[in-house]
Amino acid sequence: MHDFGYDVADYEDVDPVFGTLEDFDQLVAAARERGLSVLMDVVPCHTSIEHPWFREHPDWYIWADEPNNWVAAFGGSAWTELNGRYYLHSFYPEQPDLDWRNPELVAAMQDALRFWVERGIAGYRVDAIDRLLKDAELRDDPPASDPFPLPLHEEAMKLAGTHSRNAPDIGAALAKIREAVGDHLLVGEVYLPSADWQPYLEHLDAAFAFELLHSPWDAERMRAAIEASTRRPGAAWVLSNHDFGRLATRFGAENARAAALMLLTLPGPAFLYQGDEIGLGDAPAGEPSIDRFGRDRFRHPMQWDASPTGGFTSGDPWLPAVDPEGTNVEAQRDDPRSTLSLVRDLLTVRRVLGEGLELLDAADGVVAYRRGEHVVAVNTTGEERSAPLGEEVVLETGPGALRDGTLAPHAGAITMGLQHSQKG
Ligand code: NOJ
Repeated sequence: MHDFGYDVADYEDVDPVFGTLEDFDQLVAAARERGLSVLMDVVPCHTSIEHPWFREHPDWYIWADEPNNWVAAFGGSAWTELNGRYYLHSFYPEQPDLDWRNPELVAAMQDALRFWVERGIAGYRVDAIDRLLKDAELRDDPPASDPFPLPLHEEAMKLAGTHSRNAPDIGAALAKIREAVGDHLLVGEVYLPSADWQPYLEHLDAAFAFELLHSPWDAERMRAAIEASTRRPGAAWVLSNHDFGRLATRFGAENARAAALMLLTLPGPAFLYQGDEIGLGDAPAGEPSIDRFGRDRFRHPMQWDASPTGGFTSGDPWLPAVDPEGTNVEAQRDDPRSTLSLVRDLLTVRRVLGEGLELLDAADGVVAYRRGEHVVAVNTTGEERSAPLGEEVVLETGPGALRDGTLAPHAGAITMGLQHSQKG
C-alpha cells in the first residue's frame, strides 16, 4: 500500500484488505450473470519492494553501480541505494522496476497474466506500459529540447526521457504479454502522445488518449486532441481517472454532463471513472491525504445512497464519502433528468453510432463530429452557440439543451438528419 495497489507483493492473490480469491470468483460470476465482464489492472513494470521476488530473484530487477540521471515519475532520482548498489524505480522507491530483458522474469509474469485470464477476466488495463522497457545500457537521458506534450513532474520535464522509457525494442516485451493473454483485451496506459503509439498498437488493442484527457475544456484544444488521436484506430477514451480527478471537478460541474456525452460518443472503448455517472466531484482540495501525490481526493468510494458511508460499506471506508446526501445513485436511479439516466441513455445510444469519426466545422467554442448518421455537438462555453445539428434530436444533456437550432451554454446533443451544407 505504498502506491495503493500499484505496488504488488503477490500477482496471484487478493490483498486481504479487499477480500479473498473466492470473493473475486464471485465477483466475476455475478458480473457475468449481468452481462458484464471484469477487466483487471495489471502492473508489469514494477513490483512492491515487499514482493518475495525482490529478495529471491534480485537479478529480475534493474541494478547499477552508480545512478544515471533518470528521474522518477513522482520526482527525485529514479535510483535508490541498497547494499552498495542502486536499484531502479520509475515511480516510488518502494516500487522497484522489473527487468523485462530477463527471460525468467518474463516467464513468471506470463504465468501471472494467465492466472487471472483463467479465472475468467476479459483482459487487462496495462499499467505504465511505456516504462516497461528502457535503454539496455542505462544511458543518461539527454536534456529536453521540446517540452513533453503531456504533464510530467517538473524535474522529469527537463529531460527528454529518451532512454528511461519507451525503448525502441518495446515490441518484443509487448509480444510476450500478448502471447500470455491470447485474444483477451489489452488496453495500455501508454503515457505518450498518440504520434508514438504505433509500436504499442501492434500488440495491444488500444491506448489511452492522454492528449484529450489533458486538454482543458476548450473546443479548439479538444478538437486538436481528438484529431491527433483518431488518425489511426486504437484510442481508448478517458477524461477522468484515479490519477487526475473526476469530470465534475476537472471541467466544472456545469460541464460534467457534456463531458460524459463527449466521452461516450467518441469511436472506440471509453473509460468512465466510478462516480462520474452520478456527477460526483472530488473531495475538497487541501484535505489530508495518505497518498504522497495527493490523489486521495479523487479516490473516495462510489456513493450508492445517502447514508454516511454512501452505502459503499457497512465497515469503515478507506476514504470518507463526499456529500453522500447530495450525490448518490439511489436519488438518481428513477429520475429521468439525472446524470445517471443521461449516462445510461448514452450507453444505449453509443451502440448504434456509426464507425469512425469526422470532425465538423463549428462555431468557436463548439466541438462537433459526425459518427455515421449521427452528429454530436458540445458547447464548451457559458454562452449560447450555433452548432451543426440534425433535424431529429436523439439525446441532449438536459432539458433546454437545444433552443431554436442553437446549443444552450454548457450543453451537448446527439442529433440525426444533418444536411451536408449545414455548418455551425
Ligand atoms: C499509473 C497508475 O495509474 C498510478 O496510479 C500509479 O501510481 C502509477 N502508474 C505507478 O504504478
